[in-house]
Amino acid sequence: MMKKTITIFGQGYVGLPLSLSFAIHGCNVIGVDSDSNLCSNLAQGKTHQTEKYQGLNIQSVLKEQLENGSYRITSDGASAVQQADTIILTVGIPVHDGLPFYDYFDAACQTIAENITKGSLVLIRSTVVPGTTENRCKSLLEKISGFKTGEDIFLAYVPERIAEGKAFEEFETMPTLIGALDKTSQLKAAEIIQINSKAEIIISDSPTAVETSKVLENLQRDANIAIAQEFARFSEAAGLNIFEVIQLANTHKRVNILNPGPGVGGYCIPNAFHYLNARAQELGLRLPLLALARKQNDQLPQWICEKTSDLLRQIGKELSHCKIAVVGLAMKDFSPDDRLSPAVEICMKLIESGATVAAYDCNVSSHYSFKVESYKEAVQDADALLILNRLYEAFDPVQGITRMASHPVIVDTKNTINPQLLPSGSLFWRL
Ligand SMILES: NC(=O)c1ccc[n+]([C@@H]2O[C@H](COP(=O)([O-])OP(=O)(O)OC[C@H]3O[C@@H](n4cnc5c(N)ncnc54)[C@H](O)[C@@H]3O)[C@@H](O)[C@H]2O)c1
Repeated sequence: MMKKTITIFGQGYVGLPLSLSFAIHGCNVIGVDSDSNLCSNLAQGKTHQTEKYQGLNIQSVLKEQLENGSYRITSDGASAVQQADTIILTVGIPVHDGLPFYDYFDAACQTIAENITKGSLVLIRSTVVPGTTENRCKSLLEKISGFKTGEDIFLAYVPERIAEGKAFEEFETMPTLIGALDKTSQLKAAEIIQINSKAEIIISDSPTAVETSKVLENLQRDANIAIAQEFARFSEAAGLNIFEVIQLANTHKRVNILNPGPGVGGYCIPNAFHYLNARAQELGLRLPLLALARKQNDQLPQWICEKTSDLLRQIGKELSHCKIAVVGLAMKDFSPDDRLSPAVEICMKLIESGATVAAYDCNVSSHYSFKVESYKEAVQDADALLILNRLYEAFDPVQGITRMASHPVIVDTKNTINPQLLPSGSLFWRL
């Protein structure tokens, strides 16, 4: 059987592991990215991602697939589309001032439309505003290419449902939704999905229903975390440990409350409200509950800064004269992804208040003026320590606390510290 040639637009957190997964499963994969620096790093086998496939790190998988020729990387999207029988889009839609910003997504759609060959299949895997596949991609593809979808070319919406850090495993095991208007697109999409997935495939005739369900998946996490945060405030006032309360509630088979933390970040959850809201506004609809959850979660970084300032005042210190050690810069535990990260926002806000910040995160590769290379350096003479992420399983923050100034303030948003192990005179606060 002829090897399938799959071109994947976007070689970021989703696109790169997805490309490698198809390469591992016997396809010729051409990865396309507009970021020439990223392309040149990938061509040399370099990535800062931390995914693993069957115990191998993504760097080894990348090198192997480059060497055996199953994976290529290019910034020439036009030629990559002309060579492919399947084109997958993983370019995201950022949100600027609460509004979806389509330029990157549209540019990729345009290149696909200008170069697509008859018989090819396009799969949209990005998270989008409901209606995008039908109202934006289909019209653009048909208008520019002159082909008719469902007859000359084929189009389906297939949301990506992986969690960063579990990509390879979840491509194989996560049930996949396919939304397409015609049967041939549905069947062709399912054929591609089955290459690297053993899980159930659920097909809908409505791409918009599938797009809405993807946004709903993300928004239920946003609202769930907002609930957890409110219970955290209650638990604190009542002298309870919120993490214990949630653990107890979650023993119920139909309850799954997420953990509170220093905020809700990353590309997926914070953007979802704005995707839904963009469509709701067109429909003349308000989303008061979801808007409130978003607002509450958005305010958490500011709240953590105010809490830190209050605690420092309790020991007679002003935030503006203090050194604050921070553990974690990524948007979630164990992650290299610092996009829309509440931890980064907290550092910026502390600096705006006049504090000196020394932040440590061994997983994050981005440069920040306040980032330091070791935990020891971060905590040295610090007045307060903020635990904003878990870095790796064995990381023990208590180790460095003796290096801090006397009577240190410890803010633990992740339930990582046993207060009984802290030096006497420490002021400990847990979410
Ligand atoms: N990260 C996740 O865990 C995750 C999970 C599920 C769904 N998603 C969704 O998947 C999509 C991609 O997310 P991501 O985290 O991989 O984003 P990302 O920013 O890591 O990757 C997107 C890549 O697209 C590239 N790009 C931009 N314009 C381009 C163009 N015209 N042509 C080619 N490449 C272009 C960027 O340079 C970038 O490398 C988003 O819609 C996101 O919401 C992400």
